[in-house]
Amino acid sequence: MPGDKSISHRTALLGALAEGTTHVHRFLASDDCLATLDAMRALGVNWRLQEEAPGIATLEIDGVGLHGLTEPGNVIDVRNSGTTGRLLAGILAGQPFHSVLTGDEMLRARPFGRVVTPLSQMGARLSGRQNDSLLPLSISGGSLRGIRYRLPVASAQVKSAVLLAGLFAEGETVVEEPLATRDHTERLLRTMGADLKREGPGIKLQPPEGLAPLEIEVPGDISTAAFWLVAAVAHPDAEIDLPMVGINPTRTGLLDILSMMGAEIDIGEQRMVGGEPVADLHVRSSALHGVEIGGELVLRSMDELPAMAVAASFAQGRTVVRDAEELRVKETDRIAALTSQLRKLGVAIEEQPDGFIIEGGGALRSGGALRSGGALRSGGSVTGAKVSGGGDHRLTMSLAIAGLLAEGETVIEDEESVDISYPGFWEEFGGLVS
Ligand code: S3P
Repeated sequence: MPGDKSISHRTALLGALAEGTTHVHRFLASDDCLATLDAMRALGVNWRLQEEAPGIATLEIDGVGLHGLTEPGNVIDVRNSGTTGRLLAGILAGQPFHSVLTGDEMLRARPFGRVVTPLSQMGARLSGRQNDSLLPLSISGGSLRGIRYRLPVASAQVKSAVLLAGLFAEGETVVEEPLATRDHTERLLRTMGADLKREGPGIKLQPPEGLAPLEIEVPGDISTAAFWLVAAVAHPDAEIDLPMVGINPTRTGLLDILSMMGAEIDIGEQRMVGGEPVADLHVRSSALHGVEIGGELVLRSMDELPAMAVAASFAQGRTVVRDAEELRVKETDRIAALTSQLRKLGVAIEEQPDGFIIEGGGALRSGGALRSGGALRSGGSVTGAKVSGGGDHRLTMSLAIAGLLAEGETVIEDEESVDISYPGFWEEFGGLVS
């Protein structure tokens, strides 16, 4: 399994701020995480990456300490990576120099006002298009003061941006979240020696003198495992082992949802890797039925909802997803894109303002592209078509799994977008179906 994307980003950002060299094993060498590394290089940080397999690498990053970053000579372009953009905005807000942050066309359409608001309250000057809500953002940082900030939207990126700015602030910084979001930043900061405590719904950080470098292995990415989990449970004759997958409770919503749908997933013995709980997952063909989900279960599975929609397409009965309006501001409007693309494959899906409803096609079926036990089984109402993820990596991979399970041929138009989070995806996919 490739390393977790969220954790890989954070090891690079925090490793750059440590006193000494950080070693990261199973760093995810995908386009998004490379955007983070390139941004750190632009700020004067040296690093070396040794790739062992597509997307799986060892990273060595020479930390410059909390006060060692240097003013970039040019605009920093974080390309498609929202995590890089938002977390880096927090770090840049704390620097005594000027920087400009931009991204690709997709990222320039995504909301950044959510980080501009708290970082401005801390004393940084940020301005951008559309009332300071869109990239490019111009950031003049330094002289921050700690704040108490309650997140209006549950977002780990915003929480992390504020905590990272808090590293450079005077006084303590407290972030309160309405629902618990992924806590990888907090875990890493603690490992590096920062004084960070949970206080009810709040996370309280005291600005540290310095951060110790990391020696860390990144757990497998459950958001990547999601595609294989869905492929196995929705296929009539499949079994897949997924070793050392991160099972941080803020990330395991999909496991809970698939289990509610009737999926057979064995979660092996839990152990700790890189300060995170991990387990080996074993998953097999299952008779799935529809479910209704919302609230914290949706928050804990937000990135996996496109894959979950594919499982729902092959389940018996109706699946309803609510409280997922954040899907509309991901790499694409994932509610609209899922609806239009799954419809092309014959899936009965209805768009809702905050989610979607799928009438599942029923019992297990497999597609024309896939042989099971030597015999080609005929499929049902989900049929191959020409589809596109519109440059959205998670949509593309979800559509690939749908195409694998559908009857007939599916053509995916933007296959290269998988490199954003999973450069080895097509190779693994080919290995599975041969
Ligand atoms: C991420 C947080 C989530 C998630 C994204 C990665 C992170 O976004 O969807 O893919 O690494 O912090 P939000 O913070 O916008 O909820």
